[in-house]
Amino acid sequence: MNADLLKETAQKMVAAGKGILAADESSSTANKRLASVNIEQNEENRRRYRELFLASEGIEEYLSGVILYDETLRQKSNSGKPFHELLKERGIIPGIKVDMGAKDFANFPGEMITEGLDGLRERLQEYNKMGCGFAKWRAVINIKGDELPTYACTHSNAHAMARYAALCQENDIVPIVEPEVMLEGDHSIERCEAVTTEILKATFEHLEMMRVMPEGVVLKASMVLAGNKHEKQSTPEEVAAATLRTLKTSVPANLGGIVFLSGGQTAEQASANLDAINKLAKKEGAPWQLTFSYARALQGPALEAWAGDDAKMPEARERFHKRLKLNSAAREGTYSPEMEANGVAA
Ligand code: 13P
Repeated sequence: MNADLLKETAQKMVAAGKGILAADESSSTANKRLASVNIEQNEENRRRYRELFLASEGIEEYLSGVILYDETLRQKSNSGKPFHELLKERGIIPGIKVDMGAKDFANFPGEMITEGLDGLRERLQEYNKMGCGFAKWRAVINIKGDELPTYACTHSNAHAMARYAALCQENDIVPIVEPEVMLEGDHSIERCEAVTTEILKATFEHLEMMRVMPEGVVLKASMVLAGNKHEKQSTPEEVAAATLRTLKTSVPANLGGIVFLSGGQTAEQASANLDAINKLAKKEGAPWQLTFSYARALQGPALEAWAGDDAKMPEARERFHKRLKLNSAAREGTYSPEMEANGVAA
């Protein structure tokens, strides 16, 4: 394990003005995205969908890294260059999703456990050779009333993430640890805060037990906000206060960095909330960089514009760049909703 390399990579991942693009949808999730805009679902169209984002010029100004899926890591861009080489050439770190997905958790109806530890060491060794600087593992945590999540679900997922993280560091790959508290549900922001606090405390307890080095870990967190079916939706100021409070009580100060998922928020909401979190962090002080690692909130508007028609590529890429610029501003706490209407201020 090269501790200096891991620390350096983690710091690069959360560099000023930049964030991470999550483009690591599994083939079945990528197919769902294609189906949502009526594109035929096959490997070539999944490649074209990646081309839209990964071969877009100038993205290195806003992106420190891109999370890829195994299929994409082995695909080439229209230029004939493998996607991961294209990214590296522009100073963007390629990363790789290594979990095998969340499956039903035996004996615990409504809960999920993430699989993928078997054979992980060998896969990480190959990904390291292919130039991946970081990896990602996502756990899914559902909130339902006061019953879910259970202790068993919280700790089993935390344990799996800690074993994954230790294997990543062994192979000089920075683990992104992603315990996603799902937005779906009618829970309040207070309930989300209590659950997220518990999940994060359990996650870092297991990481410490497995002797994972915090400086070489990036947390991918869900923001703390009311469920999407709750009667009162949270304002950016409420999200910022609850999210920062939760992170400060549960996350070690020497962690490599924190990135957020968008989790089904609209593109505008995800930017406004990230901005509010950073504005508050500037005021209160926070020991970590706080940036984005969005999939849907970065890709959604562009995917709709493209819809499989390459003649629409320029407009689609313009929309993608707009989201990148706005989130880059949000990541610094300098976004404002007016920037949405006016395009992007210089
Ligand atoms: P969303 O931003 O669409 O939630 O995706 C992020 C991600 O990587 C989920 O694992």
